[in-house]
Amino acid sequence: MNQTNPSPLPTPPAIETMRWEGTPEGFLRLIDQTRLPDKLEEIECHDVATVWNAIKRLSVRGAPAIAIAAAYGVVLGVREATEPCDATTVNKVCDYLATSRPTAVNLFWALDRIRAQSQLWFASKNLDRATLLQRLLDEARAIHEEDRQMCRAIGRHGVALLENITGVLTHCNAGGLATAEYGTALSVFFTAQDQGRDLHVFVDETRPLLQGARLTAWELQQRSIKATLICDSMAAQVMREGKVQAAIVGADRIAANGDTANKIGTYSVALHCRAHQIPFYVAAPSTTFDLSIESGAEIPIEQRAADEVTSLYGRQTAPHGVDVYNPAFDVTPAELIAGIITERGVIQPVSRDTIATHFA
Ligand code: MRU
Repeated sequence: MNQTNPSPLPTPPAIETMRWEGTPEGFLRLIDQTRLPDKLEEIECHDVATVWNAIKRLSVRGAPAIAIAAAYGVVLGVREATEPCDATTVNKVCDYLATSRPTAVNLFWALDRIRAQSQLWFASKNLDRATLLQRLLDEARAIHEEDRQMCRAIGRHGVALLENITGVLTHCNAGGLATAEYGTALSVFFTAQDQGRDLHVFVDETRPLLQGARLTAWELQQRSIKATLICDSMAAQVMREGKVQAAIVGADRIAANGDTANKIGTYSVALHCRAHQIPFYVAAPSTTFDLSIESGAEIPIEQRAADEVTSLYGRQTAPHGVDVYNPAFDVTPAELIAGIITERGVIQPVSRDTIATHFA
């Protein structure tokens, strides 16, 4: 049943996942997401290695947020470089940052955009160090602001899909922490709340690193959105009981045919949705599409350390030496996806043709 509240409560300010402090001689400040929800602490990044490590260890995570952090990281890397101030130096810094994580294509998109811009700048004339750093910072800020706008637009398009829906399931964290502001999947829920809708969100905890429990549940709680945390293994039961009528998740890379990589466990959610005839939606900005690859088979899947599976918060939960498989992402085939919500609208049905038309 739709519930309309004519005078919704004012919503709290959105989470500021990261911000650049000051001039190009300043630094990047970002929330250390590994500390949430018990501690809201920030990391100050004064050099590119700190940004690289923050991405690698998931202090900053989520496809768009990784891209934005890396863009600011380029300013730091070029600033500390001893090489000449030219496009080759920019490229080297981008190459380094590109080694931090392999799956989310937004990272490579942002770094390629910066490489292309610096080629253009240096093609017309030589730049002194101060001018180059200022331009790099402006570019990073533009990437940051554009992501903010895209997230808002995703929310506006996505909310139209939730008519007659009271319960929705999400997996991992595709919220403000993972982006510039409103998130992708969570932007749909935040926008629904802004419109006075009363949604109930079921949150998969998202083993092994608990992004759902630690981050999504926290974000929803911050905004007083009704949220119920479940273990990943409970999703099918929640669907069978009719508690959710749709699932919306984010994405790390979407191939030209619509196959979508997202946090490990997403594929299972999509299969459960199909079994229960519930629509499974992906919410992602155009920067998450990789139209250079034909299908999900070409998406590189990050493999992470065994101890993420064998221990929980420093406590060993499996026998020492046990064999472990720990892919950080899986690929959901396009045929299981009811629609992809982008900043331009909703791709529905999902196919190579509809995606090509969407971006034509
Ligand atoms: O390993 P993570 O936490 O970076 O994985 C994040 C996800 O899988 C998100 O769902 C995805 O990046 C979309 S964020 C808007």
